[in-house]
Amino acid sequence: VTALAAALPGIDVRAWPDTGEPAAVEYASLWGDAAGDMRRFANLKVLFSLGAGVEHILGNPLRPPDVPVVRLIDPAHRTGMIEYVLMRVLHYHRRMPEYAAQQAQGIWRERSQCAPGDRRVGIMGMGELGTGCAEILVRLGFDVAGWSRSPPTIVGVTGFAGRDALAAFLARTEILVNLLPLTPETVGILDAGTLAMLQKNACLINVGRGRHLVEGDLLAALDSGHLAGATLDVFCTEPLQKDHPFWTHPKVTVTPHIAAMTLLQSAVPAIAENVRRHRAGEPMVGVVDPARGY
Ligand SMILES: NC(=O)c1ccc[n+]([C@@H]2O[C@H](COP(=O)([O-])OP(=O)(O)OC[C@H]3O[C@@H](n4cnc5c(N)ncnc54)[C@H](OP(=O)(O)O)[C@@H]3O)[C@@H](O)[C@H]2O)c1
Repeated sequence: VTALAAALPGIDVRAWPDTGEPAAVEYASLWGDAAGDMRRFANLKVLFSLGAGVEHILGNPLRPPDVPVVRLIDPAHRTGMIEYVLMRVLHYHRRMPEYAAQQAQGIWRERSQCAPGDRRVGIMGMGELGTGCAEILVRLGFDVAGWSRSPPTIVGVTGFAGRDALAAFLARTEILVNLLPLTPETVGILDAGTLAMLQKNACLINVGRGRHLVEGDLLAALDSGHLAGATLDVFCTEPLQKDHPFWTHPKVTVTPHIAAMTLLQSAVPAIAENVRRHRAGEPMVGVVDPARGY
């Protein structure tokens, strides 16, 4: 709040729940539905998400339906996601799970290594974050494909678009990165059917949302030997339940939704700039289309 107030001189910035008279609130920055019924803020002009995802706002039946929703687009977020995805793609590409297993048994053995150009990485969701990851992987020489609603047009990336192209996209993929937004169309998209379309011994990096993945179907695909590994940053229930099998599964790496964290120093200027634009009658960055869900 202090940082946002400093970035918005002349504007009264308050922290929930000390928001004062509801009718005086014009802009709200939020994560989740902690603020309850947002319709009581009768003069609300914009709802800012404190993250890239907006399903927590769009899915809230108590949101004022005509108030624009704006997602967070900030450079630190993008950099964080690129770091995380790159780290895990390289982890699988360089066969680190197998070397870790060897180390546990004191085994010194070189394994064959393919060149990046022979490693097929597939990115689901070629938006702000997926594109950033794809560009870096292409620069490192990986064979990268992207899947989105409209055909991706990134130089060096093989593009696939729409449900009809999903099977072909998955069939070529050895390392799958999920960076889709959660919408009615994408919920549960990573299920037994789609996981079975991946190459044998493929690995999954799920950094989209937990509810993209049918968790039991992933466990079955790992246990059957079809998939070799999974890195999961997001879960159907967060925090992940203490007794969830993912915690101890030998092929699963769990992180607590930290792939791209919202950092104060870059999120605050992004929100402040959008407030400035809105007040100046200029288009804001990251306005969401509620009909599409992202
Ligand atoms: N784990 C974390 O820490 C973390 C942090 C930030 C974000 N995220 C997740 O990452 C997601 C993506 O963020 P972003 O900023 O890159 O979003 P974005 O810029 O809105 O991009 C979304 C991409 O998904 C594609 N897409 C949407 N619905 C689709 C569908 N039904 N079929 C095929 N493709 C579809 C879009 O296709 P078009 O290009 O054709 O529109 C677009 O390429 C967020 O929504 C959030 O869930 C996770």
